[in-house]
Amino acid sequence: MTTMDLVAYIQAQLRRFDPAVTGPDFVLATDASKCTVVADERLLEQVVANPLSNAIKCSGDCPRIDVSIAAGGGAAVLRVRDYGIGIAADEIPKLFARFFRTSSARHLPGTGIGLNLVNELVATHGGTIAVDSELGRGTTFTVTLPHRPAAATPWPPTGAAAISATTVRRHPPP
Ligand SMILES: Nc1ncnc2c1ncn2[C@@H]1O[C@H](COP(=O)(O)OP(=O)(O)O)[C@@H](O)[C@H]1O
Ligand SMILES: [Mg+2]
Repeated sequence: MTTMDLVAYIQAQLRRFDPAVTGPDFVLATDASKCTVVADERLLEQVVANPLSNAIKCSGDCPRIDVSIAAGGGAAVLRVRDYGIGIAADEIPKLFARFFRTSSARHLPGTGIGLNLVNELVATHGGTIAVDSELGRGTTFTVTLPHRPAAATPWPPTGAAAISATTVRRHPPP
């Protein structure tokens, strides 16, 4: 696990999507210039990449995807919103089941594994994932990850602070 700035991480991820190739434009909104999370970077990549790629392929005729990052309630909140094909209300409860694909997306490529994996990875990080969608209107995925405010102590710390900081990190309270 690493302490990471979610804002910088998402900015870097979004730069990987070239609108000339992927189609829709991403619009990023943040309420802070930094948002610290403690995460495994390789796992976090899956958690971020799947909602982004789903939004691209499900955005239909609307070439805009809104991404937002906010901090609140002890969590970092990442939202990915598209204005595309949407999901029928009766299919939303099945969305995180392995291999499930909605009827509105049958014509699109995919395996139905991504969200199932993301759901598990988010839980591993002590977070949650939720979906809000309307058929033909679009979909919003909301991922929350435990948010840890940036430590006042520089890392790696020096002197006496080093001992207490290390002790706290190795023996977190139950
Ligand atoms: N943004 C979205 N808009 C509409 N449907 C979506 C969206 N994201 C996911 N889905 C639906 O959920 C299904 C499962 O997604 P996922 O597990 O990522 O699998 P895959 O992307 O391989 O199809 C998709 O096939 C699609 O039916
Ligand atoms: Mg997917």
